[in-house]
Amino acid sequence: MRQKPSDVSASRRKGPYLRWVQALLEWFADKARPLPWRRTTDPYAIWISEVMLQQTQVATVIPYWERWMQALPTVYALAKAPAEKVLKLWEGLGYYRRARHLQAAARHLLENYGGRIPDNPDDLLALPGIGRYTAGAILSMAFNQPAPILDGNVQRVLCRFHGINRQPKTAEAQKLLWTLSEQWVRRAAALEKQQPARFPRACSALNQALMELGAVLCTPRQPHCELCPLRRVCYAFATQQTHKLPLREQRPPPVKQLTLAAVVEAGDWVLVRQRPADGVNGNLWEFPNWEITPLNQTNKAKLHHIHRRRLAAWLRQELGVTAKHFRAKTILRHTITKHRYEVCVWQAQAARQTPKDTRACWVTHTELARLPMPAVHRRIAHGLPRVQEAEAHSA
Ligand code: ADE
Repeated sequence: MRQKPSDVSASRRKGPYLRWVQALLEWFADKARPLPWRRTTDPYAIWISEVMLQQTQVATVIPYWERWMQALPTVYALAKAPAEKVLKLWEGLGYYRRARHLQAAARHLLENYGGRIPDNPDDLLALPGIGRYTAGAILSMAFNQPAPILDGNVQRVLCRFHGINRQPKTAEAQKLLWTLSEQWVRRAAALEKQQPARFPRACSALNQALMELGAVLCTPRQPHCELCPLRRVCYAFATQQTHKLPLREQRPPPVKQLTLAAVVEAGDWVLVRQRPADGVNGNLWEFPNWEITPLNQTNKAKLHHIHRRRLAAWLRQELGVTAKHFRAKTILRHTITKHRYEVCVWQAQAARQTPKDTRACWVTHTELARLPMPAVHRRIAHGLPRVQEAEAHSA
């Protein structure tokens, strides 16, 4: 008779056996992708990569990480860099608070640790933007300490392997998952102690191997169990439940949000506005834009007419800029966590009046190419031929 999930996970709470850890480490030594941050043990380089990887795919992160390490290769360089430069290097990765936290942490490290990155959890956890995951990643990958990690990939591997049939987000499941992760990495440390030549830097390798397994084989849909080094002892594989585990969270559908954005030009000048320092996309630059309540039951032509009038009035009231000759340019769509945004982009002309909002100003197309902007605004800017020219010149 097949075991029930709870029975199996109970028997597995004893933790992983050394031979499973060994199988995973051997697989990783053989099959790990040659990612650039895997060539270093520099805690600064690893910290930057881990923060970038928190909400972003590996393939996207690689060029960002390379550029960042060229431009800001040390804690000192990051601490001393102009904030605009840091945001520009982050432009397109989203969740800009991460970049601001990195710089705040670098300044703290420079002031209090002479620019060194601490090798203990308490000091790491006291830094802005460093939580349990990032601390664990730095401690294990840079310092080879038996510190656990838990991200989406590791969570999926552990839920399947150990047959955890609870919603991973619950406090109870989180506690169990962190404990299991710690047991895995501790076993790796034990293995290294037994056979240091065969399993060097085993804590670092083990944590990366758990992540790698989740990223390349133990994928959310259609996992490649036939290639998995743990398939013989995996609960979900044995009980044919890989499609059920981890248990899915019931998410409400994303909220639709309509935004009107205006590319207002005055000859060679373009109107932009900086976002407030705190909050989403803090300090980034945008085209003036306005979130509106979508209107139903109106035909497209009429809707266009209403949008144009409302946008013109809003620009006048909010920025003190009178724009004319509105033309609908494009509609851009993007989804961020709980919102699905539809951005209707309009182009218009104006005289170069000083805006009454002090965060708004006129910039040239060359300056526009250099400003840090949220991804959707960068897409709008990139659609302007004169910005493309400026980008080509600065490349
Ligand atoms: N995701 C998070 N951290 C990672 C790492 N170090 N390598 C690959 N993918 C990751």
